Amino acid sequence: MALLSIYDASELDQEHLSDALKDTDHRWEFISDKVSLTSLNPECEVLSVFVSSPVTKEIIDALPNLKLIACRSTGFNNIDLKAASERDITVVNVPTYGESTVAEYVFTLLLYLSRKLQNALNPTAGIAQLTGFDLRGKTIGVIGTGHIGQKTMNIARGFEMNIVAYDPFPNYELETQLNFSYVPLDELVKSSDVLTLHAPYMPSTHHMIGAEQLQNVKQGSVLINTARGELIDTAALIEALDSGRLAGVGLDVVEGEVLMHMDEEVALLRHSQIPEDLLRHGIEISTLQKMPNVVITPHNAFNTKEAIQRINNTTAQNIISFWYGDVPNKVKPPKREAGKLLLIRHAESEWNASGRWSGLRDVHLSEKGFHEAALLGIELKKMGIHVDYAYCSEQIRTRETLEGILGASQHFEVPISRDGAFNERDYGKYTGKNKWEMLEAIGQEEWEKMRRGWNQEIPGGETLKTVYERVVPAYLEKIVPKLSNGENVLLVAHGNSIRSLIKYIENIDDEHISDLEMIFGSIVEYTVDENGHILSKSSSAINSPPPHA
Ligand code: NAI
Repeated sequence: MALLSIYDASELDQEHLSDALKDTDHRWEFISDKVSLTSLNPECEVLSVFVSSPVTKEIIDALPNLKLIACRSTGFNNIDLKAASERDITVVNVPTYGESTVAEYVFTLLLYLSRKLQNALNPTAGIAQLTGFDLRGKTIGVIGTGHIGQKTMNIARGFEMNIVAYDPFPNYELETQLNFSYVPLDELVKSSDVLTLHAPYMPSTHHMIGAEQLQNVKQGSVLINTARGELIDTAALIEALDSGRLAGVGLDVVEGEVLMHMDEEVALLRHSQIPEDLLRHGIEISTLQKMPNVVITPHNAFNTKEAIQRINNTTAQNIISFWYGDVPNKVKPPKREAGKLLLIRHAESEWNASGRWSGLRDVHLSEKGFHEAALLGIELKKMGIHVDYAYCSEQIRTRETLEGILGASQHFEVPISRDGAFNERDYGKYTGKNKWEMLEAIGQEEWEKMRRGWNQEIPGGETLKTVYERVVPAYLEKIVPKLSNGENVLLVAHGNSIRSLIKYIENIDDEHISDLEMIFGSIVEYTVDENGHILSKSSSAINSPPPHA
């Protein structure tokens, strides 16, 4: 049958896998080193690796018969999934071999730091150098509430710790089961005595714990990372340790961790040109190793006899079942964090300035309006959100506002759709009328109802309900899929089209819609679920007096 090339194979791996595969027709070769272009067998049909082997496009392209990559790990960020999928190569992993194994290791590192074991093992250390701290009553912040995060919470409860957690895909049932609360990441960072990372590594989680988070950690807190080194900005971590904000750090994974192995360092030194980032990581690791309140281990959290047996059993089963057309542990690229929706009401138009209803009529921005658009762009830039896609209505005032915002925030290549679904409410016969004169003509009560009511008619125009009926389908069809795909979308529209959209996003009932105001000069930021309903909301505003809208 197939030829299997099994890399990173320890003696234990060889023993387990030979035993598990012995009744099959497959042939296999064990290579104790990590995969490299020079050691490939061109006949290889199944490549099996541990996390230390980077399976790059070059490796994949050099194996013409390759059909399956069997990761002997949970994480698969060492595999070029795009290159594999282009060649229709299946990638499998071992989703759950060691959630308890890794969670136990979190506490191995944590107790080492909390009870100052590094000092306690030194016979010359005085008692004052050994004084540690209790875990009981402390708050642990768990980042990522998947398999390992959940086991970590279980153990933390045994220590009678308070638990908070952050996950962009929260599982609210867990909150009551495991007695913890989901909080935003910045709140978790500020309130935790112990931070522990259990999120996958992918572009959106690169340096998710960076200078900003590390500046906000609770004074004297401890950070544990058993997930992936690249989740933390190591240079910023060293700063936080050096300044004393962090009292201790336990790392089983670290950027450039290949350099934790002497043979890798020796091999690297043979190269005439060493990549700059690797050199930097080498210095960072060496600095961390000299710090008294740091413990670093060489990606070892998974390493128990029982866990390795489970890894190898599942790997053998993954390979055997693949040949029968069954792929239970096929790797799916991790879900991307949902994108952000940014809503902005257009800046002041010439008719806003004079108090006239514009409806569908094309009216340009006033001079103040152009200035406001630029201020909104500067505010957006400060928010640090990269816009992937932008929408405006067909009216020129939203287009001018959008262009001002994108220019001032230096978003020069954002695709723009001008979409009639987001047009202003058609004011029919009232278009061009001065709202203050109308107030006098029809009286306060009628005037309020007409402007703000849910189903209030205007002669020859639309009700807010009809605006809602065109805005929401377009939002669901065009914008929500982009947000679910992780793209950030900016919509510049009008008081009424945005109000009706917010009604849907926030589930506001018909009576209460009249209380809702989309104020000029503000940027409202939402994250939403796959049905486009609110998960979180925040807003920021520019400093500019509102027009007489
Ligand atoms: P899992 O897939 O069960 O859970 C990951 C969780 O992280 C999910 O709930 C997901 O929603 C969440 N997540 C995604 N993006 C996030 C973000 N931006 N912020 C916070 N949470 C986010 O994975 P599992 O089994 O719990 O493993 C977690 C990580 O631990 C793996 O990705 C792997 O890198 C690492 N690991 C390390 C080992 C070691 O020996 N040091 C051994 C095994 C796993």
